[in-house]
Amino acid sequence: MDGSLAFTPVRLGALRLKNRIVLPPMQQYQGTAEGFATAYHLHHYARRARGGVGLVILESTAIAAEGRLMADDIGIFTEAHVPPLAAIAGAVKAEGVPVMVQLSHGGRKSRPQGGGRLLAPSAIRYTADDGMPEAMTADDIARVVAAFATAAERALAAGFDGIELHAAHGYLLHQFLSPLSNHRNDGYGGGPGGRVRLLAEVLAAVRSVAGPEVPVTIRVSAADYDPGGLTAAEVAEMLAGLVGQGLDGVHVSSGGLTPTPPPETGPGYQLGFAREIRERTGLPVIGVGNIRGRAQVEAALQGGMADLVAIGRPLLVHPDLARVL
Ligand SMILES: Cc1cc2nc3c(=O)[nH]c(=O)nc-3n(C[C@H](O)[C@H](O)[C@H](O)COP(=O)(O)O)c2cc1C
Repeated sequence: MDGSLAFTPVRLGALRLKNRIVLPPMQQYQGTAEGFATAYHLHHYARRARGGVGLVILESTAIAAEGRLMADDIGIFTEAHVPPLAAIAGAVKAEGVPVMVQLSHGGRKSRPQGGGRLLAPSAIRYTADDGMPEAMTADDIARVVAAFATAAERALAAGFDGIELHAAHGYLLHQFLSPLSNHRNDGYGGGPGGRVRLLAEVLAAVRSVAGPEVPVTIRVSAADYDPGGLTAAEVAEMLAGLVGQGLDGVHVSSGGLTPTPPPETGPGYQLGFAREIRERTGLPVIGVGNIRGRAQVEAALQGGMADLVAIGRPLLVHPDLARVL
């Protein structure tokens, strides 16, 4: 189509994508009790790759048993988790589509099984109905950084082309970023430079196992929607400090630190945040959130709001959407 950007190839780090439509990470709630991916996942992701998206990002995948978000989520916290994930990566790549995996730790929003500890930057509950997390010690922090690196190593051994770090939706890395959940007074708290330190250390550890070529992106929540919470400007300031540290892109979502919903969720409601982070950091961004239809996709790309566009829920019900957009 004349002047189309959606179907113009683009680079993400060293990866070449045939188009700019991304399948964003979406939990399928089909993992085994031990967090293994299944044949369901293989079929689900391969089918959407066949449907014409330019990039598949696998759902939130736990780096630690105690950091699983849900009991039926998948994980990558032992070597035994690798083979089923390798089968998925292989099936997606066989369709000619690059595949990344989103690595996560749920922090205070985890559902630890078998008596695992609930970890967070500070002993502040998600809601009054949730468990009280333990403020992480320096050892806990070092273990989480190492677990992200080991998970990245396993992901690359499984054949994934890139890594997305889940620092959005109120999970552990987001909990460190936000002043509402991070009340630490050591080097991992305080101002933006302290609150971003864990994310910076995780990025450095993942980059050191990934080498310079493998794309590493970060998914952020650009707004907490609560007074005193994160704003896109502050998130951009923190991410700007990671430019040059091996960050290839930012996937811009919002919310989830608390149950407070966004004030509105109309078409492209997070694209203003994506634009702000793109402009303030100079990094490529993936825009997401109620982006529907070819005209809206083109407007986001051509209007400089995003370099790539993720379409989530519609791809769950219509796997060929990218072909008919
Ligand atoms: C069923 C479901 C599971 C999701 N799981 C994840 C996830 O694992 N990681 C994540 O960052 N976002 C997750 N999301 C958020 C989506 O990636 C996306 O940002 C959101 O659905 C908004 O995009 P959409 O309006 O195009 O669906 C999930 C969304 C849905 C509907």
